[in-house]
Amino acid sequence: MSDKELFKAAVDAAGRAYSKYSGFSVGAALLTSDGRLFTGCNIENASYSLTNCAERTAVFKAVSEGYTDFEAIAIAGSMTDDFSKPCFPCGACLQVLSEFCGSSFKIVLSDGEYRLSDFLPKVFSEESMK
Ligand code: THU
Repeated sequence: MSDKELFKAAVDAAGRAYSKYSGFSVGAALLTSDGRLFTGCNIENASYSLTNCAERTAVFKAVSEGYTDFEAIAIAGSMTDDFSKPCFPCGACLQVLSEFCGSSFKIVLSDGEYRLSDFLPKVFSEESMK
């Protein structure tokens, strides 16, 4: 699947965002190593801090279905229907991605391709506790 197709899937997923409090819709499209696609959107709550980001929705959907090997994720976020400005993943989502993905894991945004290490150069992991 091309970056463009993956990003389009993220934009489509943003259309399913439950973001009535912030008005900011985010979609994520997570590609597994065997070519399956799991999408996610942000899901907000009246108790604001219980909000789940789009990326974590996608990761939790995939892992709960038995998929833990990932190739790439695309992320699209906007207050409108214009997804041209890059939506950077938050720290919590980067940490969750780092549980399953290495430093070269691909992150596709509206302005191109990044690697997990571009956003999270030093990772807290199981190794950190040894
Ligand atoms: N949000 C995401 O879904 N992913 C991110 O990486 C950053 C922020 C959501 C959470 C909240 O619903 C809205 O964007 C505004 O913060």
